[in-house]
Amino acid sequence: MARIETLFAVRGLAAVVTGAASGIGLAISEAMAANGAKVTMSDREEEKLNAEVARLRDDGLSVRGVVADVTNASDLQRLFDETVAADGRLDVVFANAGISGGPGFLRTDNSRDPDTAFENIPADLWKRVFDTNVGGVFATLQAAIPHMKSQGGGKIVITSSISSMRIEQHVGTSYVASKAAVGQIVRQAAIELARYNINVNAIAPGPAITNIGGGRLKDAEVRAPFERLNPMHRIATPQDMQGAALFLASPASNYVTGIHVVVDGGFLLGLAD
Ligand SMILES: NC(=O)c1ccc[n+]([C@@H]2O[C@H](COP(=O)([O-])OP(=O)(O)OC[C@H]3O[C@@H](n4cnc5c(N)ncnc54)[C@H](O)[C@@H]3O)[C@@H](O)[C@H]2O)c1
Repeated sequence: MARIETLFAVRGLAAVVTGAASGIGLAISEAMAANGAKVTMSDREEEKLNAEVARLRDDGLSVRGVVADVTNASDLQRLFDETVAADGRLDVVFANAGISGGPGFLRTDNSRDPDTAFENIPADLWKRVFDTNVGGVFATLQAAIPHMKSQGGGKIVITSSISSMRIEQHVGTSYVASKAAVGQIVRQAAIELARYNINVNAIAPGPAITNIGGGRLKDAEVRAPFERLNPMHRIATPQDMQGAALFLASPASNYVTGIHVVVDGGFLLGLAD
């Protein structure tokens, strides 16, 4: 019988979440742990990570913290080795850590910003964004896949973005380009890994209120154009991503691979009233 308790079950699963100290990664960790998964929360920010892990533990959830930078392959090796040593398995990996590339070529009042014009994008910003958003996903998958292959399967969920599918005038070009690359990693890895019973999917959030980009979307003025353009006239919260995360981690998505679950309030559809 297809009951929600079994179809969407994540109880007992060993999960790793990168970028888990804040925003979407924290919300995913909470949703997984609140439903009985054993969650290894990982982040490069040690203090924030420890504080969130302690808070969730106080709530009685099964979480642990491992400090790791996704741009460092040996950190990731240690992260997955420690998880498998502790839990005996690696069922689900949320490759979520990512950074902003700053504002886009249009300011929020739709005027041009010379500082963010293509020819003025700092090369070191471009490199940092690609190292984290693309290199970090690449290295996370490289470290996780051998464990999943040797145990006969697993689920990989990458936090992509609607920036992987459309141009975004208010979002930095390096970010949009990096998420386009992530979109192809999802599809390419999914087709390669299907025969090993490893599902690779993505969550594609629209703009969400988190700490990304210095938390700029917490500012109502910065948020306003995104809200105006959204058919629901609000932008996402991290909690809006929890349903997609549980779906992609649970048996409900066993025959789903290579897709993006878009969670954007209808933004990709276009303008409404
Ligand atoms: N907030 C949005 O509008 C939005 C929209 C679409 C996609 N996303 C994606 O969601 C993901 C999570 O971002 P968020 O919005 O929750 O931001 P956030 O800044 O609130 O959280 C990101 C976390 O990742 C960590 N992190 C950054 N670089 C890291 C690294 N090299 N190694 C380990 N940890 C690292 C940060 O310390 C932080 O705790 C990112 O991939 C982002 O691109 C966000």
